[in-house]
Amino acid sequence: MRTIRVPGDKSISQRALILASLATGESRLRGVLPGDDPQATASVLRALGTDLPRIRDDGSEIRVQGLGLHGFREPEGVLDFENSGTGARLMLGVLAGQSFTTRATGDGSLRSRPMARVTRPLSLMGARFRGLGESDRLPIEVIGSELQALDYDSPVASAQVKSALLLAGLVGETLVLVSEPRRSRDHTERMLVMVGAPVISHENGDRWHVELRDPPSTITPLDLEVPGDFSSAAFFVVLALLGGVSGGLAIKHVGLNPTRTGLLSVLARMGGEVEVDETAGGLGPASGEVGEPAGVLRVAASRLRAVDVAEGEVPAMIDEFPILAVAAARASGVTRITGASELRVKESDRIRALVDNLRAVGVEVAELEDGLEISGTDRPLEGSVSSHHDHRIAMAFGVLGALPGNRIEVECKSVVDVSFPGFWGMLDGLSSAGEAP
Ligand code: S3P
Repeated sequence: MRTIRVPGDKSISQRALILASLATGESRLRGVLPGDDPQATASVLRALGTDLPRIRDDGSEIRVQGLGLHGFREPEGVLDFENSGTGARLMLGVLAGQSFTTRATGDGSLRSRPMARVTRPLSLMGARFRGLGESDRLPIEVIGSELQALDYDSPVASAQVKSALLLAGLVGETLVLVSEPRRSRDHTERMLVMVGAPVISHENGDRWHVELRDPPSTITPLDLEVPGDFSSAAFFVVLALLGGVSGGLAIKHVGLNPTRTGLLSVLARMGGEVEVDETAGGLGPASGEVGEPAGVLRVAASRLRAVDVAEGEVPAMIDEFPILAVAAARASGVTRITGASELRVKESDRIRALVDNLRAVGVEVAELEDGLEISGTDRPLEGSVSSHHDHRIAMAFGVLGALPGNRIEVECKSVVDVSFPGFWGMLDGLSSAGEAP
């Protein structure tokens, strides 16, 4: 059995950099993802005055001297979040409560993604924004304001929306109650508890409620180890299930937060053999509401069958649909994904990108408004596909192309650096001697 580790979790890394900058005192962060997204957020935090050291390629410890909740200074230029939706949306919440004005922008992909889902509820808190481009899109001017309490029912299950509002409550020192239709990833809630900001969460009347009732005037520094990103591990889980790694695969020190690991239940229904060994590790205390669970995944080549995935399962696997589509393309039967229209506003329109690319390599697929239907096949798949400037689309088709018998060319491979520098080397190293399940 081959053993790998994947780079640090992108969501946790970005939150760690932001909270370390806002803390009073020195944070110690290990395993921070050295990908383009956290690098972009780090550059923005530096522009706001944080003395953030370079994020190390080997994940070794960085120390961050926090500026306190009100320590940022007015930056000189425009804050460029590049491709990072998480960086931009979370920081809109932080910037809304500053005493100065900033301008935020991103690359072409980020400038095409909706921002009103964040700016609308922030405006209810008294935040002020001025669109500098198309409506609902970056670039946006953020006029720092005094923020007021918020009680908001979000129409989307989005950790970015929820987190932006909680961070606005934190810097604005005001109450924030937010509910969402289904529970989205809860890294912000866990980390806020770790730094001494009491957040509580509960289900009530079919909605998931999160409450920051009593924001503190200072937060404590972090001392944490970022676990490997489950969303990065997912590509290699599917590679191994589909027989792309001779002798099976173990992935060590992977984040196993249950708001992230929905793909595992779906793969189990498909007949995939993945053993989950939740060991101590991860971020803060090993498990429970405060820390981040982490452990080992062991994967054996398996014969997969088609599956139905509907709305209720979407938030806990929101980033895994590209690789699920690859598993479905090699499963027996027709996989039907519905209730997933959020996929249309990711780094690309992922429904469109998956439909185009699957067709380009010879897989039968139907496009739905809120999902897709994929007819599995064991024919050799060949063709050239676009990454659609989307790291997860590129990696998913990289995995499909690495399976024995397939020949797929992915254009613009470097886009994977957003979340997984080193992906192609790891894929080459593992897939050189695959086996049929
Ligand atoms: C993220 C939340 C998700 C996810 C994204 C990272 C986060 O987006 O797709 O890759 O770190 O909060 P939404 O909040 O839009 O669902």
